[in-house]
Amino acid sequence: MSEKPVALVTGANKGIGYEIAAGLGALGWAVGVGARDDARREEAVAKLRAAGVDAFGVPLDVTADDTAADSATAAAALVERERGRLDSLVNNAGITGGMPQEPTLIDPDTIRTVVETNVIGVLRVTNAFLPLLRRSASPRIVNVSSSVGSLTYQSSTQADTKVGPIAAAYSPSKSFLNAITLQYARELAGTNVLINSCCPGYVATDLNGFRGHRTPEQGAAAAIRLATLADGGPTGKFFDDEGEVPW
Ligand SMILES: NC(=O)c1ccc[n+]([C@@H]2O[C@H](COP(=O)([O-])OP(=O)(O)OC[C@H]3O[C@@H](n4cnc5c(N)ncnc54)[C@H](OP(=O)(O)O)[C@@H]3O)[C@@H](O)[C@H]2O)c1
Repeated sequence: MSEKPVALVTGANKGIGYEIAAGLGALGWAVGVGARDDARREEAVAKLRAAGVDAFGVPLDVTADDTAADSATAAAALVERERGRLDSLVNNAGITGGMPQEPTLIDPDTIRTVVETNVIGVLRVTNAFLPLLRRSASPRIVNVSSSVGSLTYQSSTQADTKVGPIAAAYSPSKSFLNAITLQYARELAGTNVLINSCCPGYVATDLNGFRGHRTPEQGAAAAIRLATLADGGPTGKFFDDEGEVPW
């Protein structure tokens, strides 16, 4: 069993997920690079290792059925086999489904696809890894959400990057993810598992055509903080770099 703490980051081959893996690695954690594409995953692992991170590849498509060879269950078995432990799970993989997403025009299949990845994917991966996480002395789960999932912000009249464009699939998928985070926090209350949502801010990545004004490294900070929370820290909350985000 690994002496150092072990994290798994989903969608870690690029963008914010890659920087979460790099940041945790710099703190001395071993990091599983969850990614669905073999070449992109191996490239990210090699780059992290060259930077001195104890990184290992974990084939993982968060939408794959649990019976598939590359499923979350198989990924959990791989982490157990290779490192014997998991201390933090960072559910970072996500998609927007493409814009525009006016509710009057959107194809319902877009909503299904986005919810499948951003919500059901998180549920599938979390449940597959919970048995391993529960064996850790200080298990942490971080769901990378977005301020655009905040109903408080969505119901404000201000145009702001925290509110984003009208988006009938992406924004509600993050509200749904936040609601699921709360349900997990309720079920896991009284255990040592701490589970929180975070928003990375508006970050320049493939997700938004690199229009964000923050770097992926800046975007990773909130998730890294929540993945390494001390015992007795918050659970069932939603944070960004400035503090707590309203639901
Ligand atoms: N960028 C922002 O401004 C911003 C703001 C708020 C929240 N977020 C959230 O931050 C997270 C990371 O986004 P990002 O900006 O870093 O975007 P990104 O650069 O597009 O990265 C998304 C990652 O998710 C992976 N992914 C997508 N679907 C997957 C699936 N079915 N199975 C496994 N991996 C999958 C992608 O893998 P592939 O390379 O294989 O596609 C990629 O590694 C997302 O949850 C996003 O909603 C981003």
